[in-house]
Amino acid sequence: MKYLIANWKMNSLDITDWISKFENNCGEICPKEALQIIVCPNFLQIPFFIEKSAFSKYLSTGSQDVSDQDPGPFTGQVSSKHLSKFSEIHYCIVGHSEQRMLGDTNSTVFQKTQKLINEKISPIVCVGESLEIKKSGDRENFLLKQLESFSNLENFKSSSMIIAYEPIWAIGTGISAEISSIRESIDFIKATLETRNIQSKILYGGSVNAANSKEILAEKNISGLLVGNASLDGEEFAKIAQNF
Ligand code: 13P
Repeated sequence: MKYLIANWKMNSLDITDWISKFENNCGEICPKEALQIIVCPNFLQIPFFIEKSAFSKYLSTGSQDVSDQDPGPFTGQVSSKHLSKFSEIHYCIVGHSEQRMLGDTNSTVFQKTQKLINEKISPIVCVGESLEIKKSGDRENFLLKQLESFSNLENFKSSSMIIAYEPIWAIGTGISAEISSIRESIDFIKATLETRNIQSKILYGGSVNAANSKEILAEKNISGLLVGNASLDGEEFAKIAQNF
C-alpha cells in the first residue's frame, strides 16, 4: 500500500471546487486498495470534506492533529475519542514540526500516538531535523531520539502506524531535500525500526510537488508523500497522485 497525504494546515479551502479540480485531473490513478489518498483539512472543515468526498473513488479524510488528553477541561483541544466518532477518519498526523514548535515534545507525541492507536486510528508520526541539527552532523542521533520516543509502544507493532520524514529545512521552502539526503534519513529510519521488529511505511514530506514527486517516489524505501502547499491546489495534487 502507498500513501499520498494532503496536509492543508491552517487554510480554509473551497472544498467543492478543490474536489472537482482533483477529480477532473486525476485521469487514471491507482485504486484505493493500492493508493490511499488522505486529505487532512482543518478541524472545522472535516465534516464538509467527508460529506463532499463521499462519492469519490479515491479520497479519504484524515486529521492534522489530536489532543494528548481524554475529553475534559482542555480548551481548544480535540480528542481521539471525538475523532473516532467520525467513522470515515482512519488516519491522523501527529508530531508535525509546526506543532512541535508550538510545544509538542517527544513525550506529547508519544501520548497522542497512544490515544490514536487506542481508537484504531492510524497515526502518521512526523519526524525530522532542523537545518542546525543537520549542519551539526547530529541528524541520526536526533532522529533516533524521536523514533525511540514512541517505538517502544506496546501496541505499536500491531498498529498500522506510518512514519513521515519531514526535514524542517525543506518544509514550505519550495525546494525539497536532495534525493541522497532523503535516502540517508529514510534508510536510517527503516533500519532503526527494523531492529525493533517494526515494519512501518515511511513517507517523505517537504516541498513535494508534481515536478519532483516522481523522482522521490522512485526511492525504494519510500512508501508515499506528505504534501503541504502543493496539496492546496486540487489539480496539482491530482498530478502528484498520477506519479504513483
Ligand atoms: P510543504 O509541502 O508546503 O513543504 O509542507 C510539507 C508539510 O509540512 C506537510 O506536512
